[in-house]
Amino acid sequence: MSDNAYVRLPGLVDVHVHLRTPGGEHKEDVRSGTAAALAGGFTTVLAMPNTLPPLVTLTDLRSACRRADAEALCDVHYFAGASAEHTDELQSLGRKAVGLKIYMDQTYGPLRVGGLLTLLRCFQRWPREKPIAVHAEGESLAAAIGLAAAFDRPLHLCHVSRATEIALIAQAKQRGLPVTCEVTPHHLFLTKGDLGRLGPLGDMRPTLGSQADVAALWAHLDSTVDCIATDHAPHTLAEKQGAEPPPGVPGLETALPLMLTAVDDGRLTLERLVALMATNPRRIFGLQEQPETWIEVEVGPTWELSNDGLRTRCGWTPFAGFAVKGRVHRVQLRGQIVFQKGDIGPLGSIHRSSKGPL
Ligand code: NCD
Ligand code: ZN
Ligand code: ZN
Ligand code: ZN
Repeated sequence: MSDNAYVRLPGLVDVHVHLRTPGGEHKEDVRSGTAAALAGGFTTVLAMPNTLPPLVTLTDLRSACRRADAEALCDVHYFAGASAEHTDELQSLGRKAVGLKIYMDQTYGPLRVGGLLTLLRCFQRWPREKPIAVHAEGESLAAAIGLAAAFDRPLHLCHVSRATEIALIAQAKQRGLPVTCEVTPHHLFLTKGDLGRLGPLGDMRPTLGSQADVAALWAHLDSTVDCIATDHAPHTLAEKQGAEPPPGVPGLETALPLMLTAVDDGRLTLERLVALMATNPRRIFGLQEQPETWIEVEVGPTWELSNDGLRTRCGWTPFAGFAVKGRVHRVQLRGQIVFQKGDIGPLGSIHRSSKGPL
């Protein structure tokens, strides 16, 4: 018999993942990425457009969506990418995409947008009812908030990582500006002090912050922060350990165990976790509820995150060796069990030793 407790939660929503399809299938594809999503408790993911080709035209966006429809194991919605060359397509892209992604700073991929003219066109033309999401760090983040204020339209700030940035967002919200934001587990659980240990496996954009940055993000988790998003950004180990390591780390399979551990440590409530990882993401991006959909998590026994057994094609995690206290046990999507922990035996036996509401 075990003392494990099983808790049922809504299917989680990750508003920031890179499925690497098209063009980066050696890192991840729709099948492996959505398998990782389910293993991590996510039944909906929003996929980023910095693919090869990038999703900046209706033709390429449509073909990515068609592929996801055929191959995905959970719900996938795509962002369109902003580019100076295709601002004429913003309206039609806006009917198909879940939001517009603007890369205001340099990161992985070719999508950095420079120049006020393109930004103005994006804010003028993108449908008001769909969010604009930005990769914007430091002063770029301030500029993005200024645009949201000027055009009075919803803006979502991706992977906020610095004390100064979260303070500015808190201020903007206090003024009633229509901004929302996400924070990643790696910016909550790692600092630049981990870089010596992690080397290139600790490199991502935004880079890891200081202890004070991390403390500020945690302090704002109950108020300013709207979502936990993984920014699942798989690259192969060979790429990460090569001469020019691309920035980015995977996160789909480690986010919930890490956040459940924080709940166990009393750093946030389970209720708040559900708001940050399900309810708020759904509201911000206007996603419909998935009927008969839930996840069952096991809280209690400590186990160690590891590179072994990951579903993501990249096959590694910057959190290998972390002791955590929660894991995904089962996932049901629209009435069907789509994931159950592999080492428990056949369906008929899996509930024998549990005393949860199963
Ligand atoms: C992301 C990627 O690899 O696509 N990398 C990263 O370091 N976060 C791009 C991004 O989200 O900025
Ligand atoms: Zn980014
Ligand atoms: Zn990203
Ligand atoms: Zn069970």
